[in-house]
Amino acid sequence: MNKVRVWVAAAALAAVGLTVVEISRSTAAQEKGLVEGINKVAEALKKGDKTGAAKLAEGVAKKFELDEIMHAFKPRKKGGLGVGGNPGAITPDGIEQSVQKLKRDVPPKADVEKNAEAYEAMGYQIAALGEITKAKVPEADKGKKTRKDWVIWSNDQIDGGLQLAKAAKEKGAQGVKTAADKVNTACNACHTTFR
Ligand code: HEC
Repeated sequence: MNKVRVWVAAAALAAVGLTVVEISRSTAAQEKGLVEGINKVAEALKKGDKTGAAKLAEGVAKKFELDEIMHAFKPRKKGGLGVGGNPGAITPDGIEQSVQKLKRDVPPKADVEKNAEAYEAMGYQIAALGEITKAKVPEADKGKKTRKDWVIWSNDQIDGGLQLAKAAKEKGAQGVKTAADKVNTACNACHTTFR
């Protein structure tokens, strides 16, 4: 084999390896009930039970690593939660990508009307993931990485998620965009400092 072929072969093998790692991690998380845990927190939030949600979130946070929790934002086919009950019916089928799309332009009214239920559920899942992330606050400050900021950005994600759920339920396209923007800002703010 010449050098180029060796490199191509090595890159292909590495890609397969990464995919296997990604899928096995997500399967393991699903087997241990991460998705169920997130949805239970989301349900409590939907009922307006903030205290119950925070308590459930603490339980989930104890059982899972942060990268497993964050992985829920990935597309469904990569082991994430996906968007809507019907895989592939809404594209993109991943929360992170969906939020980025919704905050970029005001979504078409038809999209918001057709997918209102799915976007509402996504909003509560984002808020639930914010509660779980908040419960994973680092034990001590480390330079710029402060516990205070961690909690602020987790709370911003919770508020943005709840706002998104409400706007989706009301089928307000501009409201969905504004809420998605708030969520996205929280993700980016925390990643810039902590990731
Ligand atoms: C309070 C802090 C915080 C917030 C808020 C936050 N993240 Fe993260 N995120 C992190 C950290 C820290 C990591 C790195 C985790 C690791 O690798 O151990 C991470 C990693 C990730 C990953 C990679 C996960 C993987 O598969 O390994 C994704 C995807 C992600 N975040 C998406 C999001 C999205 C989308 C939002 C907003 C809806 C968000 N995050 C909000 C702190 C945060």
